Amino acid sequence: MSLSGIGQRVMVAAFAEDPATAIEQSLSLVEMTTPNVDELGPRDVLIAVRSAQVGWVDLLMTSGQYQHMPTPPYTPGLEYSGEVLWCGSEAADHGISVGQAVYVDGLLSGPRSLGAYQKWGGFAFYAVAPYEAVLPMWSGLSFDEACCLLGNYETAYHCLCARGNLQAGETVLIHGASGSTGLAAVQIAKLLGATVIATGRSDDKLAVVKAQGADHVLNISSTDGSKGVRRFREDVKALTNGHGVAVVYDGVGGDISIESLRCMQFGGRFLIVGWAATPSVAHGKGQRGAPNANQLPTNLIMMKGLSVLGCPTVISTHHSPSIRPPRLAQITKWLRSGQLRPYISHRFPFAQVRDALRAKWHGEVIGSCVLHL
Ligand SMILES: NC(=O)c1ccc[n+]([C@@H]2O[C@H](COP(=O)([O-])OP(=O)(O)OC[C@H]3O[C@@H](n4cnc5c(N)ncnc54)[C@H](OP(=O)(O)O)[C@@H]3O)[C@@H](O)[C@H]2O)c1
Repeated sequence: MSLSGIGQRVMVAAFAEDPATAIEQSLSLVEMTTPNVDELGPRDVLIAVRSAQVGWVDLLMTSGQYQHMPTPPYTPGLEYSGEVLWCGSEAADHGISVGQAVYVDGLLSGPRSLGAYQKWGGFAFYAVAPYEAVLPMWSGLSFDEACCLLGNYETAYHCLCARGNLQAGETVLIHGASGSTGLAAVQIAKLLGATVIATGRSDDKLAVVKAQGADHVLNISSTDGSKGVRRFREDVKALTNGHGVAVVYDGVGGDISIESLRCMQFGGRFLIVGWAATPSVAHGKGQRGAPNANQLPTNLIMMKGLSVLGCPTVISTHHSPSIRPPRLAQITKWLRSGQLRPYISHRFPFAQVRDALRAKWHGEVIGSCVLHL
């Protein structure tokens, strides 16, 4: 059987020193024909990609600074959605059908997966995934929304619930709240019944964060024009009747982390989610080592009896696969009932993939950024 078509895919030829350099120098659009289905297997599903999320991890991977690296040349695009063009017999037995609208689980297929499907990224007209990774969309869900679900909400859930054990009535301080995972964390924390104090560096972005459910927003931009953040412990104490917060969700790192320890109540939980402010923790070009790693002062952690919890969602899931089904079940329940909905501020046509990556890298995006194919 032949499905003939010609499209394009993004190719990262080699890891760059950093993502900004990768965008300008090692990324290109190359022609691709429809994969030959005679060469695909019974578990395979061929997908015409419609929307792909442009995520922070996609950026980090281009310089090999993410912990899990496909070998270049590779096609980025951890999460995408589209229409089924063809499927093998086993996939059909599991309910996949031609024409179906689907989204793809980035843990099981694409550049962040571990096996044979790693080469099929979503920044491409066509992708192939095993049926286990192919999830049917439901009525009312758009292609754009579908590619912004799993990574963001699973991260937020893993951090807040599995690691943070956030309880109704507690107050959580969420940094990077305008980001893809941060905004998901704001939404989930509210569904859990927590009070949310969200931080950011732009009043416009924080207005959206507030509209998405945050109880309080704090602009913590530096007052001296530097890239750092200002002192904000008094603001947090004032919002918590002097007690401080029970939980910190820190996807930003750097100065913000140390200031946050001062905002916590005794016995609080500090969640290390990421370090958006210091992306070059690891060497570029795929080298290992962490010359610029973030550090936390042990005296504050000790005297306040804090629990500091590392929250690597994917790695934890590989260690303990059983944590995933209940997480997916709860997120899907919230999504299908309309209680969760991804916020997408930026959309780009495929030809403008560099502009999309630049927008994400320079922090212009609120929530998620999507590429249209
Ligand atoms: N733990 C996990 O399993 C997991 C999973 C996915 C991602 N991550 C990590 O979590 C972090 C956030 O990911 P994301 O996808 O949400 O990223 P994102 O969408 O780019 O959002 C990051 C947010 O951080 C804020 N920020 C960026 N630079 C900053 C700086 N210098 N100072 C203060 N705030 C800054 C920005 O908000 P404002 O502009 O409003 O300040 C931005 O919206 C990344 O480090 C990522 O690698 C972790």
